[in-house]
Amino acid sequence: MVDKNYSSSDASKVNQTDVDYQDPDKIPWMGDYIAADRFTPPAFLSERSTQELEPRVISKDRYITREWHDREVEKLWKKTWQMACRENDIPEVGDQIEYEIAGISIIVVRSAPEEFHAFYNICRHRNTPLVDGCKHGKEIKCPFHGWSWSLDGKLKDIPCRWDFPGVKDDENGLISVKAETFNGFVFINMDPDSEPLENFIPEELRKQLLTWPQKRRWKAVHVAHVVPCNWKLGMEAFLEVYHVPIIHPETVWYNGDYNTQYDNYGPHARMMFPLSAPSPSMRGTVEPQQCVDEILTGETSFGGGLAQAMGSEYAVPQMAPDDTLTDVRHRMADMLKKVYSMRTGKDMSGISDVEALDGIQYTIFPNLQPWGGYFYPAVYRWRPNGNDPESMIYEVMVLVDVPDDQPLPKDVQATYTPLGSQLTDAPGTKGAYGYLLDEDFDQLRRIQKNLHSDQVDHNIYANYQERNIMNFHNHLEAALDK
Ligand code: FES
Ligand SMILES: [Fe+2]
Repeated sequence: MVDKNYSSSDASKVNQTDVDYQDPDKIPWMGDYIAADRFTPPAFLSERSTQELEPRVISKDRYITREWHDREVEKLWKKTWQMACRENDIPEVGDQIEYEIAGISIIVVRSAPEEFHAFYNICRHRNTPLVDGCKHGKEIKCPFHGWSWSLDGKLKDIPCRWDFPGVKDDENGLISVKAETFNGFVFINMDPDSEPLENFIPEELRKQLLTWPQKRRWKAVHVAHVVPCNWKLGMEAFLEVYHVPIIHPETVWYNGDYNTQYDNYGPHARMMFPLSAPSPSMRGTVEPQQCVDEILTGETSFGGGLAQAMGSEYAVPQMAPDDTLTDVRHRMADMLKKVYSMRTGKDMSGISDVEALDGIQYTIFPNLQPWGGYFYPAVYRWRPNGNDPESMIYEVMVLVDVPDDQPLPKDVQATYTPLGSQLTDAPGTKGAYGYLLDEDFDQLRRIQKNLHSDQVDHNIYANYQERNIMNFHNHLEAALDK
C-alpha cells in the first residue's frame, strides 16, 4: 500500500514549477511550507500523528436508515462528550440555555462565575420543558405551575407545598447531566459513567487547541443551517480537502488541497492545508501575482473582501517580476499579522507564516470542528436535525479575538435557516466562506438523494486523503458496537 506519510521538509519545493498531483513526490507538502517559514511554528504542527488504516468501504445504511440513527442515539449521543454551548452564550450567573440533540433537550446553567451545571430539560412535576431557547433567573423555574430549583438543581420551591405530602426534596432535584469546560466551550455527557472530558480530549490535543485560545473571544456570527443530508455525510466533506479543487474551482489559485496533511489522535483529527499557495491541481503554473489577486479580491475567495476590509493602507501587494510563491506567503503573512495586531493590540511579530496563513482544522469526535491558527477563527458543529436521519443542522460560529483591555461584546445568538435555503441567505455569511459552504451543501443534498438508489451500496475512501473519514467511522462503529 502506498503511504509515505506525505511529509517532507524542503523549502524549495514551495516554488517548484513541475508539480504533478498524480505523483506524491512532485507535490509540495505542509512540511515543505513549514521549512520555508521565517519563524518557528509550534513543534506540534510538524509532528505527525497518523497511522495507516486498512482500506475499507462504508455501507450506505448509516446515512439513511432509522435503525442506524436510533443506534447512534443510544450508543453515541447518549454516551459521548459533546459541545453544548459556548461559556459566553451564558455569560451571567443565572443564564440558562437549551441544547438539543436527537430530540433530547438539555439545559446548561451558569450557576457561579466559573461553574456550570447541566440537566435534562424536564420539570419533575409534570415534565414540562423548563427552558425554551434561553432565559435568565436566580432559579430554574417551570413555566407551567411554577416549581423551581436552585441553579445547581436542588428543589427549591413548590407552590402549595402542603398539597404534595409525598414529594421528597432530595428525590426531586433536576436530573443532572455531566458538564465540563474546555477552551471556552461547555461539553455535556449524559452517561454518568463516562470518562472525564480531560481524558476524552487527550493532553496532546488540548495543548494544540489552547495555543490559540478561544475562551475570551467574541462570537460575531452564529448560523445554524438545516440541510437535507445526514450529519455524517455533511461532516465528511470537512474531513478532507480532496474535493476542493473540483467543487470550489475558484480556490485553486491560492488554496492547497491535494497536499493537505492529515493527522489523527484516537478518534479526533487534524488537517492542515496551505493558503496563499496554489493548488497542486494547477501543476505549478500559478504566477505569484495571480495567487495574491485571487485570494484577496476574488468575490468568492477564502479571503474575499479581505483587501477592502483592510482599507487603502493595505492595498493588494504588487509582486515584483522575480518574486516567488514563497515571497507571496511572506507578504501575505506580514499583512495579515499587521491587521490582526491593529485589531487586537497583540504582538504578532514572532508568529509563524503557517499560523498566520494556513488552514488548520481540528475535529473533536464526534462532531465539533474548531479551527486553529489566526486566518479563519471558525468553529463548526454537526448534528442530526431532531430524529431525521436525512437532515442535519450544520453550525458555523466565528470567534473574533478582541483586545485584552476591552470588554467582550455580547455574543450573537444562533440564527436557524429554513430547510432548503442557502447558507448565504443568513446574516454574516455573505463573505467568502458562505459561498464556499453553499457549494458543498448543494452537492450534499444531491448525494443524499442518490443514496436511495438501488445501484448504490457503499462509499469508497482514499487511503490517505480520506483517512480521517475512515478513522471517524472506525471509532463510530466501535462506539455503536459497545
Ligand atoms: S409541570 Fe412543571 S410545575 Fe407543573
Ligand atoms: Fe468544500
